[in-house]
Formats: sequence, structure tokens, C-alpha cells
Amino acid sequence: MKHLDDSQIDELWKSYKYLWQGYNNNEKIRCMNVGYWDEYTLTIKQANENLYCMFAKHLGLMELAEDASFLDVGFGYGYQLVYWQQALGVRAKIFGRNIDQYQVDYARNLLTELGCSGIELSHGMAEELPYSDAQFERVAAIECVFHMESHRFFDQAYRVLKKGGKLAYSTIDFASSLDNKRMDDLVNDLRLRNDFPLLGEHHVNNSCESDIAYLKNLGFDVQVIDFSEHQVDLFPDGDNKKSLFVIAEKR
Ligand SMILES: C[S@@+](CC[C@H](N)C(=O)[O-])C[C@H]1O[C@@H](n2cnc3c(N)ncnc32)[C@H](O)[C@@H]1O
Repeated sequence: MKHLDDSQIDELWKSYKYLWQGYNNNEKIRCMNVGYWDEYTLTIKQANENLYCMFAKHLGLMELAEDASFLDVGFGYGYQLVYWQQALGVRAKIFGRNIDQYQVDYARNLLTELGCSGIELSHGMAEELPYSDAQFERVAAIECVFHMESHRFFDQAYRVLKKGGKLAYSTIDFASSLDNKRMDDLVNDLRLRNDFPLLGEHHVNNSCESDIAYLKNLGFDVQVIDFSEHQVDLFPDGDNKKSLFVIAEKR
């Protein structure tokens, strides 16, 4: 894991926590991921955009035709939707699903204000997708699979993807169960506020390894990229977390 200086970690964590709770901490940063850092990345915004580009590249978003469909689950405040459509010129029809009503409303306003067209957002869980079988060419999930009942989400992703369609997600393989627990506590606040069932003991079983095995078993060909060197550690406690980028193609 890359180590930022203390003030940068502090800034990142503070904004993350405030945003999570629906506060307007800092208009400069409305990201809820820790980005992709390289030697020329100087700001958190740039790191976020690098990560959006990583998704665009591995999912071939810029090559999708206008009549293709692409779903982003757990879309946060929606900045990547704007980035994909306006900065990268993605032409496919974009859908988003998020468990938090506040973020859905925020993103809807943002898309209108910035003149994005044809992006459809829905409020609800990625574990329950209100879309047809084989509706999508692509599904993305940026740093949110660890907040879900991942196997239920994968079942749904498999169902809504076309044959040959791809799911990509970036995730953090927490080495310590304390970090998993912290994540569950955050997301349970969100679930409570939005009247969704709590995760229970999810953090005890949360494991990237079992997620990947599950995907293979479902009928995906899976590629895993370890990009730990390009992420920062939000809980810098010296454990051995890993940042993984997973691309799963439906056979
Ligand atoms: C760490 S944030 C990442 C946000 C965004 N993808 C980004 O990169 O900025 C996790 C997101 O997942 C959403 N989320 C958490 N659990 C979810 C679930 N079960 N279904 C759909 N969205 C969920 C949260 O509301 C939040 O927007």
C-alpha cells in the first residue's frame, strides 16, 4: 500500500466519513473511493479519475455502442458517471443503483446540473437488481462489494449480464477482521437509515478469495489484478491489506 503523508490521509478519511454520513464536508472532494495513485498523481480527485479510467479501460467502456447498456452499482455521489459520459465520451446507456437515498438524490441533481443525459438511477440494493435478464454488456462496482452480501450481488450480476458481458470491481482485501468490522459498521448505519436489513456477521466471512471462487463457480472467467502499490491505506495499521481489481467475463 502506498503511504500518503498524515495530513493527506486525514483529509481523505475525514471527507470519506462525512460524505458517508451525508454531510457536505468539502465540495472539492466527493469521492468515496481511495483512487489509483502513481508518481504523477498529485491530488485525490486525480486519483479518483485514474480509477474511473481503469474501469473504462478494462471494461472497454469507450468502445461500447450507443445501444449498449452499462450498470454501475454503489455509485456514491455519481461523479464517475459524469466522468465516463463527459470526459471519456462513453456513449452506452448508463444505469446506476445505490442503497442510499441521499446519494441517489444528490447524484440526480448533479447529473441534471451538469447536463448529463439518459443516465437512469435507482434506489436499492445491488443484491436485488430491478433489471431484466441479460440486459447489460457491462457491470461495474467501485469499492463497494465489501459492503454487500457479495454472493447475492454476483448472482444478480450474472443474471443481468449478457453472455460475454463483463463485471469489474475494485475491492480491498482486508487483512484484519477489525477493518472488515469497521466497514460493516459504516454500511449498517446506511442500511438502518434506508430501511434495509443489516449485514449481521458479514465481516467474519468477508473474503476476496471466496468471492473469486464463487464467481468462477457461477460461470465467469476471472482475472485478478493486484494494484495495492497504487492505493492508500485508510486504516494505516501496518497490516497487509490488498487492493484487487477483478474482471469477470460471463462464459
Ligand atoms: C465506498 S463507497 C464507493 C462509492 C463510489 N463507487 C465511488 O467510487 O466513489 C460505497 C458505495 O456503495 C453503496 N452501497 C453500499 N452497500 C450497497 C448495496 N448493498 N447496494 C448498493 N449500493 C451499496 C454506498 O451507498 C456507497 O455509495
